[in-house]
Amino acid sequence: MPDSSAPLAILELELINAIGSATTVAEVQAVRVAALGKTGTISGLLKGMGAMSPDARREQGPMINGLRDRVSAALASKKAELDAAELDARLLSERIDLTLPARPRRKGGVHPTMQVMDEMIALFAEMGFAVAEGPDIEDDFHNFTALNFPPKHPAREMHDTFFLKPDPETGERKVLRTHTSPVQVRTMLSQTPPIRIIAPGRTFRKDSDATHTPMFHQIEGLVIGKDIHMGHLKTTLETFVARFFELDGVDARFRPHHFPFTEPSAEMDIRCDRSGGKLVLNEGDDWLEILGCGMVHPNVLRSCGIDPDEWQGFAFGMGVDRMAMLKYGVPDLRPMFEADIRWLAHYGFSAFAAPNPASGLS
Ligand code: PHE
Repeated sequence: MPDSSAPLAILELELINAIGSATTVAEVQAVRVAALGKTGTISGLLKGMGAMSPDARREQGPMINGLRDRVSAALASKKAELDAAELDARLLSERIDLTLPARPRRKGGVHPTMQVMDEMIALFAEMGFAVAEGPDIEDDFHNFTALNFPPKHPAREMHDTFFLKPDPETGERKVLRTHTSPVQVRTMLSQTPPIRIIAPGRTFRKDSDATHTPMFHQIEGLVIGKDIHMGHLKTTLETFVARFFELDGVDARFRPHHFPFTEPSAEMDIRCDRSGGKLVLNEGDDWLEILGCGMVHPNVLRSCGIDPDEWQGFAFGMGVDRMAMLKYGVPDLRPMFEADIRWLAHYGFSAFAAPNPASGLS
């Protein structure tokens, strides 16, 4: 009887060699088709088994099946090997070296207003304030009524308000918020005291000259507790302003003022000297107005569902752009919003130098 396993052994050797020398997944696939595809050599042998005599099938069957199994296994392991090698090569080629220093800033940078907002948030966060936010488009209630602006009172005009078109159904006119104080209202309506928040954001007033732009930024502060008083307000703000300007302390005065939503109200000024054409804080006989503040008016607490006999607190608000100009010597307000890349290259900050009180603010 001829050795019927001889051609099978040769076929197997050829296939295993072909698989072994394949260097790509596509080559492995070509061997698979040639052997196990519809018209492949092993498929042909398997089909031929049907026409064999039972004896021949009993003898050849296990050999052909064994051949198919070994070739299949060799194909699978070669494919796995090539897949892994391909992945390794890709990972290697796509690798990013995170230890490389960032490329030097060529254009743009962090806007001084945003830099100063980050600085302020970092300082107030250290004092235990959380950040609260509210919408730029407000309703009359949050921007005015709940803040104790009397209805139809000219105080509403005082803010040079941008009114939106009336709602066709209700006639209600939304406003672009004229200050960040509506965030006080939103916070008191949605949280129960004690409260300690700051609210940085965009504000809008119909005003445009050398020291006013229609859009500017404010940061609001609100503290509500059982026995919060003016002493807390004074210490909080003096501590903040000193740290913000990186001074050991500030020579400040609180000048009586009026806001509908605080009673008593004050503006905080810092002693300064402008005589040398340059602003020097804590020296001289001039005063620099920094911010508005006061004790939250009982009517405001009541509008927000807080019992003024149980709770009281203080609030403050200041212009962020103005503080940025003062701190970083930006002489003119308007170019701050002209998006001129040359201006930003000069006054901007590196995006990689996130301000924090531990490593320095600026
Ligand atoms: N909302 C005031 C303004 O825009 C600032 C302010 C806030 C004053 C909170 C007192 C208390 O002028």
